[in-house]
Amino acid sequence: MFRALASILVCCFFLEASFWSHICYGNLITCSGIVPMRYRNDKISITDFGGVGDGNTLNTKAFQEAIYRIQHLRRRGGTLLYVPPGVYLTDSFNLTSHMTLYLARGAVIKATQDTWNWPLIAPLPSYGRGRERPGGRYMSFIHGDGLHDVMITGENGTIDGQGGIWWNMWRQGSLQFTRPNLVEFVNSRGIIISNVIFKNSPFWNIHPVYCSNVVIRYVTILAPPDSPNTDGIDPDSSSNVCIEDSFISTGDDLVAVKSGWDEYGIAYGRPSSCITIRRVTGSSPFAGIAVGSETSGGVENVLAENIVLYNTGIGVNVKTNIGRGGFIKNITVSEVFMENVRTGIRIAGDTGDHPDNNFNPNALPYVKGITLKNIWGVNVHQAGSIQGLKNAPFTGICLSKVNLRSTTGPRSPPWKCSDVSGAAIEVSPWPCAELTSPQQSGSCASHF
Ligand SMILES: *[C@@H]1O[C@H](CO)[C@@H](O)[C@H](O)[C@H]1NC(C)=O
Ligand SMILES: *[C@@H]1O[C@H](CO)[C@@H](O)[C@H](O)[C@H]1NC(C)=O
Ligand SMILES: *[C@@H]1O[C@H](CO)[C@@H](O)[C@H](O)[C@H]1NC(C)=O
Repeated sequence: MFRALASILVCCFFLEASFWSHICYGNLITCSGIVPMRYRNDKISITDFGGVGDGNTLNTKAFQEAIYRIQHLRRRGGTLLYVPPGVYLTDSFNLTSHMTLYLARGAVIKATQDTWNWPLIAPLPSYGRGRERPGGRYMSFIHGDGLHDVMITGENGTIDGQGGIWWNMWRQGSLQFTRPNLVEFVNSRGIIISNVIFKNSPFWNIHPVYCSNVVIRYVTILAPPDSPNTDGIDPDSSSNVCIEDSFISTGDDLVAVKSGWDEYGIAYGRPSSCITIRRVTGSSPFAGIAVGSETSGGVENVLAENIVLYNTGIGVNVKTNIGRGGFIKNITVSEVFMENVRTGIRIAGDTGDHPDNNFNPNALPYVKGITLKNIWGVNVHQAGSIQGLKNAPFTGICLSKVNLRSTTGPRSPPWKCSDVSGAAIEVSPWPCAELTSPQQSGSCASHF
């Protein structure tokens, strides 16, 4: 009897484990299945804690006390923290579990310019150091570590990072540590970010790392095209992340799926998996939809569809490097329209820098199964370049119904390919021989 019970438990445990590791929510039409929206009965306002939205008063204490109250006077179903219209200046702060940060229409939560007092936290183990400077890194403006059941939502209020001061420190080379993200969740699950405007992040805008079950929808992310490293959304070593119905226009990649950096990411070994990106529109001097270049924990099962890009550097960019190790598998990008783009599609094994000189030059990435279909472009300067690594060729690269019209007519630069195999069906301009030789044509038929 006891043994039977034990074996049922073991069986269910394995069933659940295999469920999480192999099946994505990718086929759902919207993100809603991934994290349920929660209604909170208990509501408090930042003004109950002395918050003043006059744009000058420092509200750090008000946010800390309100969130302390949510954490310690735990109410059934969690608590909503209401931020009324007004401009609330504050230092960075930590969220807690079972809470909703609700920004009313006209509410702005604004980061202080006090970079001297900005708290430092440990580097992420999968990066081994700060992304741009050695050592620790500045904590994100709004931060969550080890949380579950958190929502940041409302009526399209604004979270403003006032990043200009940080961008200038980067430009002047005077940064001591890596700049803060605007919003970061570490080791968290059950996160919804919706109906919020993110503005002028010091560094990456939204960074879920070591997270699962994260929904980001109906967000607007804005930063000037010349603002350095202001990536829109970077799911990093995270699974079941769904991003949809958003507008992103920043100074770096709009969405970049990552999983750690060289020897640190390889040792940490946490992949990004089951990432859905759909109905995203925007522009960037760098990439629209990116995988990498930090992919040392592996990236698999990514679906991006219904993407509209204009005035963008590279439409779709899969990037890795020698020393990265890891894998990039089962990536599908479809239904993309792009206009005024430098390079339509770029898949490359020579992108990005290394954390230090201890990276292993024999740690080659494994890249297999990238499907790009129904991609249309006008005013695309160069259609594409797909360049694998000599000792680790990229395989199963499949292009189907790709039509990228150039600015320069028939004289536009041809596709550039090396160390790659796969197939091409109805691709214009006609891609390289590596993808069009007859013996290749079957190699990715199953993907179409
Ligand atoms: C906020 O969270 C970080 C990371 O978990 C922690 O190091 C820091 O002490 C927290 N700050 C406060 C004020 O609780
Ligand atoms: C907020 O913005 C989103 C996305 O732009 C939009 O779909 C939604 O209708 C807006 N909501 C409100 C309450 O204005
Ligand atoms: C490929 O990824 C998609 C999600 O984008 C997933 O639904 C599908 O099951 C994956 N295929 C394999 C063979 O793992």
